[in-house]
Amino acid sequence: MNILFIGDIVGKPGRKALEQHLSVLKKKHQADLTIVNGENAAHGKGITKKIYQQILDWGADVVTLGNHAWDKKEIFDFIDDTDRLVRPANFPEGTPGSGIQYAKVAGKLVAVINLQGRTFMNPIDDPFTVADSLIERAKKKTNHIFVDFHAEATSEKQAMGWYLDGQASAVVGTHTHIQTSDERILPNRTAYITDVGMTGPYDSILGVEKEAVIRKFKTGLPVRFDIPETDKTVLSGVIISLDKDKGTAKKIKRILINDDHLNFE
Ligand SMILES: [Fe+2]
Ligand SMILES: [Fe+2]
Repeated sequence: MNILFIGDIVGKPGRKALEQHLSVLKKKHQADLTIVNGENAAHGKGITKKIYQQILDWGADVVTLGNHAWDKKEIFDFIDDTDRLVRPANFPEGTPGSGIQYAKVAGKLVAVINLQGRTFMNPIDDPFTVADSLIERAKKKTNHIFVDFHAEATSEKQAMGWYLDGQASAVVGTHTHIQTSDERILPNRTAYITDVGMTGPYDSILGVEKEAVIRKFKTGLPVRFDIPETDKTVLSGVIISLDKDKGTAKKIKRILINDDHLNFE
């Protein structure tokens, strides 16, 4: 079973890149399940119902989120009506939405879990403990378990990868928006990468207008962050192959499409 995962869609350029490439990538890699991180899809901050629907229409099966999940207030109006939108699971009890969703693909159920880190991020419940209980729950239904761990620190992401080795089919990092080149299959057959990278404006800093970010670094003053309007984009993802019966990982490969043609698709 092949799972295609696309990293954080940033604003309109990210949505354009997704629309442009997704069907080709799905075909090329024979993706059975496509998961897209949409936490920055609405101008860098959150997601709207319309954009969520668009991402599904373009071919995604499940959309994961992150620390920006709540930036567009309308999410509170629709998140409880969706069964393909996953927010970080380790928010306190009673938070709207769900941190786990199940997708039926190729005759198998796949659990998709979203967790958020807490190193250099806002305080939140312990993602490791929450991972344990969600995986225990998911294992009653399936051994195909995909985790999007949305975290800042590379160490926290590596720790989650090793912690869930043999428990999850895949642990992929998101949030830092830069693709890392450490994809691997851990000894107990969990596919891992520290960060998948983002999908959005290529000549930017993490998807944001570079001039504004440079100004912030130079002056230390508050600056408004905008997403540049551009057709020059980058798309970042991974394709992961799982044993269709055991749910163990067989292969993980990075996908990077950008204007420099230093690509691997
Ligand atoms: Fe992000
Ligand atoms: Fe994030």
